[in-house]
Amino acid sequence: MPAFVRSIGVRQVRIACGLTMFAYLVSHYSVHALGSISYDTMAEGLLWHMAFWRSPVVTPIFYTAALTHWALGLWALYERRQFRYTAPEVTQLILGLSIPALLIIHFAGVRLPGPLFGRIHYYPNALNAYWVLRPWQEWVQLALLLVAWTHGCIGIYFWLRMKRFYVRAAPFLIAFAVLLPTLAWLGLVQGGRAIIELRKDPQWRAANLPVLEPAQRALLDDIIYFYFPIGYASVLGLVFAARGVRIIRERWRGTIRLSYPGGRTITVPRGLSVLEASLRHRVPHASVCGGKARCSTCRIRVLNDPPLPPPSRREDFVLERVGARSDPSIRLACQLRPDCDLAFLLLLPPQLNLSFVQERKKARIGEERYLVSMFVDLRGSTRIAERGLPFDTVFLVNRFLGAVCQAVLDAGGQPNQFLGDGLLAVFGLDGSAETACRQAVDAVARIGINVAQLNTDYASELREPIRFGIGVNGGDVIVGDVGYRDHTVFTVIGDPVNVAARLQDLTKELQCEALIADDVCRIAKLPESAAALHTVSIRGRDENLQVRAVAEAHRLTRDEPLDESALRLPMSVSI
Ligand code: FES
Repeated sequence: MPAFVRSIGVRQVRIACGLTMFAYLVSHYSVHALGSISYDTMAEGLLWHMAFWRSPVVTPIFYTAALTHWALGLWALYERRQFRYTAPEVTQLILGLSIPALLIIHFAGVRLPGPLFGRIHYYPNALNAYWVLRPWQEWVQLALLLVAWTHGCIGIYFWLRMKRFYVRAAPFLIAFAVLLPTLAWLGLVQGGRAIIELRKDPQWRAANLPVLEPAQRALLDDIIYFYFPIGYASVLGLVFAARGVRIIRERWRGTIRLSYPGGRTITVPRGLSVLEASLRHRVPHASVCGGKARCSTCRIRVLNDPPLPPPSRREDFVLERVGARSDPSIRLACQLRPDCDLAFLLLLPPQLNLSFVQERKKARIGEERYLVSMFVDLRGSTRIAERGLPFDTVFLVNRFLGAVCQAVLDAGGQPNQFLGDGLLAVFGLDGSAETACRQAVDAVARIGINVAQLNTDYASELREPIRFGIGVNGGDVIVGDVGYRDHTVFTVIGDPVNVAARLQDLTKELQCEALIADDVCRIAKLPESAAALHTVSIRGRDENLQVRAVAEAHRLTRDEPLDESALRLPMSVSI
């Protein structure tokens, strides 16, 4: 593998080359489709198509992309250690390998006469060859059109399928994928029919269908039917020979043992990736992207402490994206090729599918980080339930939770869990500690404003205003997915979360709307005049905690000193 390809990244090079080839196909097929309008239109379109793709700048780019794409395909065939491909992968491989064999007739008939004999061939030559002189080639061209297009579409599918917009874009992409080759073939058929008519005119024939010398024709036939098959078969043979040499070398280097959770151990030759080893021994192992270092679903946690090869740039990038870069024991099974015995855990269930990857968020596998947790609780919901109809109670609770969630989202936080008539929200999943604290303080004020609005809107329906309590605390917590199979939720765990819940409880005793840990207020640079400082003791904690008590949450945004008369707080309480 050339160093320049490795430095850019094989995948990026493959995508760039593939997109160049696909753009060529779209352009070429669009010109074919013009044949349904008229032969003259498609002939005119071809001139534009050739003016671009055969320009001095684009031609070298195009042929470099084509050769690189082909070479990378052969490299992938060499590199692959196991052949338990999924159906699209098998199709992609077979179609990709058959394109050169199908293309050679078109390439030799249309492209080679230029450099070999100084003759530029256009539609008349090609259509005359396929529809008149050698009609069986018409079907070869149809096969080429479909095979190249399907290969390109599968490549685009592999590229886009993990993007979140893909689900919405898929119907349009499928419509385009079906329509363009259909229209292209219809255009070619119309073009072929037009040529059959046009060639009846001797003058047109003389002007548009110059005949190749027998020696020239023979040379092209030799290229198509002799030199190319031998050359292509030799290249494929070399690839398989290289695979054979590698297998012998790996056997000679000995084997290693891979231990899975539950005591299962397999023995594999050195050089296999952990994922290839799993697939070879039919051990269920998630690999949504097929081992291309794109999805991270194959990730494992290495349990022993073996000397492992460092992650590649690509592996680093993917681990960073899922928030696992800071833990050196987490690796991508599809990229890790251990040289020694390995014991590990699979971090994700083997049955994961594409939707998991499309919807994934950062830091879901378990990571310690600073977050601000906020518990919000609706006061007196039991009383409301006793007095009202069930429907009214649910309606009111939903309106309350809606007002709170909107405030949290507007402030930049995330509602995380609903707990009956309350909720847990978190701040700082994507930002610094300072941002998290500012967002949390902002959210307290917004909740106050939203609930005040709710009380105004429903004043005539409510026997008493809606009241609530908020507890806010920050600290290092564990974030990650918790649960079982489809019942997994993303949540936060840790002492700071428990303290936030206790502070929320304390608001009842302190008769205030919010208690915010003083650390959070200081990091958020909340003016000291905004909320009174108190000391509380929390059950289970040795040290007292400094908190700020907010009597009326909606006033927290104002620069007014706290109205102490609104609070009748003991200076130290415990719960
Ligand atoms: S299988 Fe997708 S990253 Fe390893």
